[in-house]
Amino acid sequence: MKVERKCTIVAREEMGDAIYLVLEAGDMVRTSYAGPGQFVHVKCGEGLLLRRPISVCSCQEDVPNDLIAIAFEVRGDGTRWLAQRKVGDTLDVMGLLGNGFSIKPKGRYLLVGGGIGIPPMRGCAQATEGRSTAILGGRSKDKIILQSCFNDECAKVLIATDDGSLGHHGFVDALVRQELEQDKNYDGVLACGPKPMLRNVANVAQEFGIPCQVSMEERMGCGVGACLVCACDMADGSRKHVCKDGPVFDSKEVDWNA
Ligand SMILES: Cc1cc2nc3c(=O)[nH]c(=O)nc-3n(C[C@H](O)[C@H](O)[C@H](O)COP(=O)(O)OP(=O)(O)OC[C@H]3O[C@@H](n4cnc5c(N)ncnc54)[C@H](O)[C@@H]3O)c2cc1C
Ligand code: FES
Repeated sequence: MKVERKCTIVAREEMGDAIYLVLEAGDMVRTSYAGPGQFVHVKCGEGLLLRRPISVCSCQEDVPNDLIAIAFEVRGDGTRWLAQRKVGDTLDVMGLLGNGFSIKPKGRYLLVGGGIGIPPMRGCAQATEGRSTAILGGRSKDKIILQSCFNDECAKVLIATDDGSLGHHGFVDALVRQELEQDKNYDGVLACGPKPMLRNVANVAQEFGIPCQVSMEERMGCGVGACLVCACDMADGSRKHVCKDGPVFDSKEVDWNA
């Protein structure tokens, strides 16, 4: 069941270029949680017509208020407005939306997050209770956020930066290949990040015959399947709604050349 409610910001932290917010969300998690990788649709400012989708980083059931953490970077007017909110302010939030990653009980996964695609992988780390390996990538070391959380919540954490300022000098897909060459016992690869990164990670997973799920970040309008703004081309020629059918898809379903 989707819920729309006023959520109070109870914590706010700046992490490099990202803003991390914790929201009190009533029973939103208890009523709408489907898995890590879901998103909330946040009204960003009075004047702006549309809501903005932000992935859930982590969430927790509690009484009377469930807690939801999100992390985002400023890209335009909506996220700029959101970045100016303070502890005690309320946000108009719709959620939890979308399908989330499908995770087997006791499953062990390779979690791949690129840039602002890192935060949604934290929920996957928590859901797999220390069994997974995280591969986190970004342009430079200040883009690698939440590393200490992944250190606590994963069996292993590998880092890649484009400029070599932290970890492997290069892209995350090289580390995905390295890890799969050494260890073939993963139940799958779960990934969130920019589309070129997702395509490269999907190709490596396919080479190794490992299932791969990707979280797609298309522009959104309504967030609930009522417009066509978020349509994503599929390999079979169909189009799916990222908001309703996704944002997580089997990587083989996606038309990577669209
Ligand atoms: C399911 C989903 C989950 C997301 N989770 C996060 C998150 O956890 N953290 C985060 O920082 N961002 C996330 N995003 C992206 C975020 O929604 C956009 O950055 C935001 O909507 C931009 O709004 P704005 O008003 O600030 O900028 P706008 O003025 O709307 O856009 C600024 C620039 O960003 C581009 N843009 C906007 N949305 C997207 C998009 N979805 N994909 C690619 N380019 C885009 C625009 O074309 C424009 O160039 C997510 C998007 C989706 C669809
Ligand atoms: S955003 Fe409207 S259908 Fe997905």
